[in-house]
Amino acid sequence: MSTTSEAYERYVGDPGENYQKYFVPTIGEPAARRVVETADVRPGETVVDVACGTGIAARLVAGATGSPGEVIGVDPVGPMLEVARRVGPGIRWLQGRAEELPLEPDTADVVICSQGYQFFSGKPEALREMTRVLRSGGRAVIGTPGPIPEAMIEISETIRNNVSPEAAGFVSVVFSVHDPGAMEDAMSAAGFTAVQAENRPLTLRVPPPADFFWQYVTSTPLAGVVSKLDPVRRAALEEEVIDRCARFVEDDGMTIEPGFLVATGRLA
Ligand SMILES: C[S@@+](CC[C@H](N)C(=O)[O-])C[C@H]1O[C@@H](n2cnc3c(N)ncnc32)[C@H](O)[C@@H]1O
Repeated sequence: MSTTSEAYERYVGDPGENYQKYFVPTIGEPAARRVVETADVRPGETVVDVACGTGIAARLVAGATGSPGEVIGVDPVGPMLEVARRVGPGIRWLQGRAEELPLEPDTADVVICSQGYQFFSGKPEALREMTRVLRSGGRAVIGTPGPIPEAMIEISETIRNNVSPEAAGFVSVVFSVHDPGAMEDAMSAAGFTAVQAENRPLTLRVPPPADFFWQYVTSTPLAGVVSKLDPVRRAALEEEVIDRCARFVEDDGMTIEPGFLVATGRLA
């Protein structure tokens, strides 16, 4: 057994910067692209990206519409917003929670939210906030990943075995919202009409197991827990991931296929 992980040393760094560098190109952008395509934003519309992270969905909107109205990104985490401000000039970035959006009523034509809703502790409140900030006739598009793909089950089990059940629980939360019927009910209960949800897999190409694992971990809230581990424990984590994920490796990487739920609703 090795006593240190060279791959971890390669990727350890600021989680916001790592998120933008590693997570966004492989996972964030393909997911956000589907949300933004569904939103079909037209020139002049004002768009709010809730749980914007480093802002990939907001940037795709700004690029797609040519002459958008305003694009506003909202996220509670300062370091994510710092990166968003750097890579997304021309977009208004605001610090705030989905459950208490820092926006006036009737601000937006479109609310988008890619891979954030599953983390909201107050989901009904967040949906009601979306209806509050939308103008009459406006629409919301919410994308969430799940069910969990097999490779991520293996990664979650490795984290459970070598870190803690609580740390593995983060991965479960990531993939926890994927049922179209339940999402339609939640949006209808919040006051949306013409609600529709559909789950179609995303095909994602990611690096081989050790690189993917450390890129993922160092881009998420798991970064803090893993940084406190003994180097020998980190090496054991890596060995187990390589072993458990060997069957997913093809050529120079892995293909993973999480489900992806996209739900839309209108404000009457
Ligand atoms: C996986 S990232 C998705 C970021 C971005 N939408 C994207 O597609 O790359 C999840 C984001 O949800 C944010 N988040 C977590 N809880 C939140 C809450 N209660 N309100 C708003 N955002 C929240 C996190 O700060 C994080 O930036």
